[in-house]
Amino acid sequence: MNLLAEKRILLGVSGGIAAYKSAELVRRLRAAGAMVRVVMTSAATGFVSARTFQALSGEIVRCGWSDDQSGMDHIELARWAERILIAPASADTLARLAQGRADDLLAAICLASRAPLLVAPAMNQAMWRHAATRDNVQRLLERGVQVCGPDTGEQACGDVGPGRMLEPQILQQVLSDSFANGRLAGLKVVVTAGPTREAVDPVRFLGNRSSGKMGYAVARAAREAGASVALVSGPVALEAPTGIQRVMVESAQEMLEAVLARIEGCDIFIATAAVADYRPVAPEPQKIKKQASDWSLQLEPVPDILAMVAALEKRPWCVGFAAETEHLEQNARKKRMHKGVEMIAANQVGGELGFESDNNELLLVWEGGERQLPVADKNLLADQLVEQVADLYADQNTAHEPLENHAKHSA
Ligand code: C5P
Repeated sequence: MNLLAEKRILLGVSGGIAAYKSAELVRRLRAAGAMVRVVMTSAATGFVSARTFQALSGEIVRCGWSDDQSGMDHIELARWAERILIAPASADTLARLAQGRADDLLAAICLASRAPLLVAPAMNQAMWRHAATRDNVQRLLERGVQVCGPDTGEQACGDVGPGRMLEPQILQQVLSDSFANGRLAGLKVVVTAGPTREAVDPVRFLGNRSSGKMGYAVARAAREAGASVALVSGPVALEAPTGIQRVMVESAQEMLEAVLARIEGCDIFIATAAVADYRPVAPEPQKIKKQASDWSLQLEPVPDILAMVAALEKRPWCVGFAAETEHLEQNARKKRMHKGVEMIAANQVGGELGFESDNNELLLVWEGGERQLPVADKNLLADQLVEQVADLYADQNTAHEPLENHAKHSA
């Protein structure tokens, strides 16, 4: 499983001979699909040139306050990063982080960022063993910093002992593991995403503006939480997330069939698709000619995939989405009962959020609880949604009998 694809990694490089190994780390992270930005301390530039990292990362390398030509300040970089790894982390860098200093770019970014911080110490064994370094490492550990290594062995200075930086492939693995939370390990999840297209004739269809971004983010988040994921997707312009089985469909009927074909043994079903509500009763086999007079199209409702899955005898734990224009919570609760599902993720439509946007906000409602997820990137929301589903699923994963009061639906 490649958890590093499209992840935003900020690599801090501080002064030490091990800095040359970080060049290989950048190459490996990029090959795994991660986006990497490198920030060097001024001591680091004495060991490896910024150009090396620039060529490997494909990004401008920042070497300090004054050298920063990128127009991106420390706050922007701090917000951009999903993980910060300092490799090598010198004794001086560890000391400065422990003190919470902000007098160079890298230290300031670490102070300003809420991204998890990982450090890969590299130094002479006596420096590593020194009580001052031990205290600094202890303080960092207490603050939740992940200290990776160091390795023990022969050192560049001829000493033997602890202080060698971990090898690039191990650091890559550590970073990758930091994105896996394993909450859904061993579970099978089916996700629907995107719009459906209901044929009017061979060239025309009824559709909607759904981009599929939310559903794809949910599928990715479930995969990263350890689930095996099938994504049943309507027509969208998105690439399949890594490690996911994707099935492309067009109409609601095809989506229903693709879902039912995968529902056996499914533990959690998350319906994010914006399924058309109606379809033409009789799509024309030939292109309909333009006429001077009015023309009307007779429509019929499409099957409600979510409600049908929720009404199955052996049913998964079900999550539905709801777009509401008013009375968000009240309507979400009604919809949860009506569809017979465990959770509804509701969002207020109108304004800038929703279908085509990268951002959204959600209100999760379930029996006896709710959680507001404030405006955020759909990827972050998907992580939070999956985390909540994992919590509730763990509490309730006894038998999932159809809920009471749900509407009965038939194919
Ligand atoms: O009834 P409404 O369209 O508001 O319900 C939205 C929820 O139901 C979403 O989770 C959507 O994916 C799902 N749905 C479905 N099949 C339909 C209509 C909606 O699975 N035909």
